[in-house]
Order: sequence, then structure tokens, then C-alpha cells
Amino acid sequence: MAKVVLAYSGGLDTSVCLKWLKEEKGLDVIAFSADLGQGLNHDELKKKALGSGAAKIYIEDMRETFLKDYAFPALRSGARYEEKYLLATALGRPLIAKRVVEIAEEEGAEFVAHGCTGKGNDQVRFELAFGALNPSLKVVAPLREWSLKTRTEEIEYAKKYSIPVSATKKSSYSIDRNIWGVSIECGELEDPWQEVPEKAYQVTASPAKAPDESRYVEIYFENGIPLKIDGKDYGCIELVEILNKLGGEHGVGRVDLVENRLVGIKSREVYEAPAAAILDIAHTELENLVLDRETAHFKQGVSRKFAEVVYYGLWYTRLREALDAFVTSTQEKVTGTVRLKLYRGTCQAVSRKSPYSLYEKALATYEEGDSFDHAAAKGFIQLWGLPFRGQRK
Ligand code: ARG
Repeated sequence: MAKVVLAYSGGLDTSVCLKWLKEEKGLDVIAFSADLGQGLNHDELKKKALGSGAAKIYIEDMRETFLKDYAFPALRSGARYEEKYLLATALGRPLIAKRVVEIAEEEGAEFVAHGCTGKGNDQVRFELAFGALNPSLKVVAPLREWSLKTRTEEIEYAKKYSIPVSATKKSSYSIDRNIWGVSIECGELEDPWQEVPEKAYQVTASPAKAPDESRYVEIYFENGIPLKIDGKDYGCIELVEILNKLGGEHGVGRVDLVENRLVGIKSREVYEAPAAAILDIAHTELENLVLDRETAHFKQGVSRKFAEVVYYGLWYTRLREALDAFVTSTQEKVTGTVRLKLYRGTCQAVSRKSPYSLYEKALATYEEGDSFDHAAAKGFIQLWGLPFRGQRK
């Protein structure tokens, strides 16, 4: 039997995919699940996959690689898609795809498969990554191919083949979660006029119910990488988990966005990313202190492009690597500490310091000790304004 490696989450879609690949395509299915911090029970997942007909399952904790090689580079770049989305889902796909390809190569599989729908971004991200890393693999996307039209039909299919689905919570939401953030779609969120109900949020407290006391937190970065919280060193996983918890308690990191998908449609998406939001705000603030004006302004354009590149599934490309090279160069002096205040859904940087600070009090001050050459301003203005003199006379 020919083999297929399926990116498997254990949810309804990929569980039905698994069986379908076996029954309808006659393939030997090797399931792969990446633990990216979504709260996986490895034993349960294994049972489920084998119960759904998998010949074999790989479950791997990839949180560290995910943070170090995908999330932190995005953090350093300052990427936020459409100014808001910190890209948790979009960053996970290329990593999952990379392991799927490696396993396919090790197992001698001819096919790779995913459980994405035909109208989302994730199918694009998976398939562009598969194609970039190994163009000879053939992609199967059951959700684009099969005749099951609704979730109800999928559940019936699952029943027919006694596929173990967590028939538990009848959540109307589609939720994708990892350590960098949660993406929530569907249900009443599909009406952009309807306010997001509190029950849609998975990891953040309502700002209205968050503590009435603000919490200060200090983050230390070295070359744009967060290393300490309140002066204490942490590994990347623990650091992000602590900030998720802290930010979550204070209702920080919620986003409600009508966004432009790659496939042309607009969709209403809700995100929660407490740690990513705190780190992004802190990191930007530190850059404000250490980057010169022109580098900082140029980097804003790079941030936007980096976000598009991630969102559009272009991780394994020359362009992403080139942008990353620029970003890496800008991070040489992004070392220092930012103090933030978390309070009822807000996160504000309130203090910052760095050995590479370009801020000079003697130049900035309006008090004693001013060293700025006021007379030099006159000549500067004369020449700066020269091209425009009389332009609107
Ligand atoms: N719109 C977001 C993105 O494209 C979230 C996607 C969520 N994916 C999911 N399978 N539920 O990155």
C-alpha cells in the first residue's frame, strides 16, 4: 500500500480525513501531530489515531523549535498582519509542514495530506511549504475533495466508521491554539455586527472582571530575544507560558478583526495572544530606544512585509530569509529592559533602559545642562527647506 503522512490534530476534520484516506484512497496512513502547546494529551491522541485507522502515529513536542525558529523571528520583525494579528496559526503551519515532509521522506511515503478546508489560508501555507521543501510529494486535501458538505455529515461519517471523535463540547467555534496564541472563528462570530461573546474567549479574562490592581512586569531582551522576566532567567517555553498566564489574567491580548484572507474573502477572526502581545509591545518599545530614526522607519515597512509573507504561506522562500537577514542586523543593539503595566485589558510600556540607548538627556532636556547646538538649527532649516522655498507662493 502506498503511504501518506497526514498532519493530524485529533479534531473532527483530521479524524475523518484519516479514515477517508484509508477507505477511499486505499492509503496507509501515518499520522503526525506537533505539540505546539495546544494542550495535547499524547496518550489519548495516540489511541484516537490508531482507533481511526492510522498505521502509525508520531507525536512530537515542538514548542521550543516553534518559539525559537518561528515565533521569535516574527517577534523580532515586528510582524502583525493588518496591524493586529500576531500570526500564531500562520507561524505554526510551516513548522508542521516541515516535519510532515521529513517523515514522508523517512517513511518513503509518496503522499502528504492535511485537513484544511478549501477556503482558508492554512491549505496554502501547508502546500507551499510542502512544495518548497519537496516538490515531488503529492498532496491530498480530503476536505477539498470529498462529498461531505457539513460538519453534521462529517459526524455521520465518523459514526458510520466508529471514528472516536470527542463528541463532547458542542462548541460552535473553530479553534486553533498553540503556545503563541489562539485563533477563534465561526458560530456567531460570522456576524461582524455581533459583539464577541465572552464565552468565545479561551485564555483571557474579561477586562471587566480582571483585577482592579495593575501588575507591573519587566522583560529583558538580548538581541531582540526575550530572556528574563522580572530579572529572572527563563527558557523560552516557560517565559511565554508565564506571560500567557499573567496577560490572560489581566485580559491582555484580545483582538477582534475583519481580515483579508489570501483566497480573497473577508472573515471575522478573534485572537488571543497574551504573551505575544506583551512581548511585541515591549520589543517595539526597546527598539524605540536603540534604533536610529531611519532604521526604525524602514523597519516598519519590513514588519508589514514580513507579516504578509508569513500570512501568505511564504515562509520557505528567499524573500523571508532576506527580510530576516535585515531584521537580524537591526537587532544587534536590541538589548535591555522594558517595564510594562498590565491593567484591565491594556498593556503599556512605562519604563525602558538599555546599554545601547540612543536617548541623550543632555540633548533632549529643556532644563539645565542642555548641550544641543541651537544655533546649528538655523543652518539646518535653511538647507532642509531650500528645495521648497516659494513652492506655494
Ligand atoms: N485567520 C487566521 C489565519 O489565517 C486563523 C486561522 C485559523 N485556522 C484554523 N484552522 N482554525 O492565520
